[in-house]
Amino acid sequence: MLKFGKETTKLLETAYQGGDASRRRRKAFDALHLCEGDTVVDIGCGNGLLTEQIARAVGKTGHVIGVDPSADMRALAQARSAEYPSVKICDGRADALPLKDGAAGKAVAVQVLEYLSDIPSAVREVHRVLCPGGRFVAVDTGCATLDWFSENEERMQRVQAAWDHHYAEARVAARWPELMRYGGFAAAEIEPFTFCDVTMRPDGIAFMLMHLMSRYASENGHMPAHETQAWFDEQVDLARRGRFFFSLTYFRMSAVRI
Ligand SMILES: C[S@@+](CC[C@H](N)C(=O)[O-])C[C@H]1O[C@@H](n2cnc3c(N)ncnc32)[C@H](O)[C@@H]1O
Repeated sequence: MLKFGKETTKLLETAYQGGDASRRRRKAFDALHLCEGDTVVDIGCGNGLLTEQIARAVGKTGHVIGVDPSADMRALAQARSAEYPSVKICDGRADALPLKDGAAGKAVAVQVLEYLSDIPSAVREVHRVLCPGGRFVAVDTGCATLDWFSENEERMQRVQAAWDHHYAEARVAARWPELMRYGGFAAAEIEPFTFCDVTMRPDGIAFMLMHLMSRYASENGHMPAHETQAWFDEQVDLARRGRFFFSLTYFRMSAVRI
């Protein structure tokens, strides 16, 4: 798994403020159908950008519980939400949420389920903390949808194959219908949305992935560092020559607790 340490946390902080990640958050935000006074749990809240947006939407009478096992992420989320008394940032995991049974009306997990080795346990936990009729929204990466141009296709495939190792579950969306049905949820809706770039932007998801993927492949012994650096440099060069192409689809799931 990717380590969400200090360096990664800083890189993510920049990219997460960018246009692509803002659009991804917005997808989750919209599906939550928030109301003033809602109690919402943000599972794997990361640096707390969505937590903060939710806090604004539920107002002073609402409650937002951001849960994350990473102390670095929690510190950022804590700082970001300091001015919202409705927010509590807690240490916890998707399969051990610090909430009482039926305490929340909404639960959200953006890019978290794909990192879990036991998703059914997390779904059981979400079911436990939601009240009947509560809403669960998840957004995850469609790893199999990545289409990233390279003039060295064989190397591109190795970078991609190495990256796939960092997901505990690379195809979460395909499991959602079954997970929801047997997890006690109804009316699961799944919607894809795609990021497709022909230019490279320092705030974009593609640029963030260039850093994360090249580092992950070399640091975890999948590829030598000089090769991942060559792949990274090639992408910079393709962008300079107007040949950059990156496309990745994410999936949003929204379901109601029975
Ligand atoms: C890719 S980040 C997404 C952060 C945030 N949801 C967002 O979209 O901005 C994944 C987050 O999941 C957290 N995470 C990892 N394992 C987890 C677990 N077992 N339960 C809950 N969160 C976890 C990580 O610490 C990290 O903050």
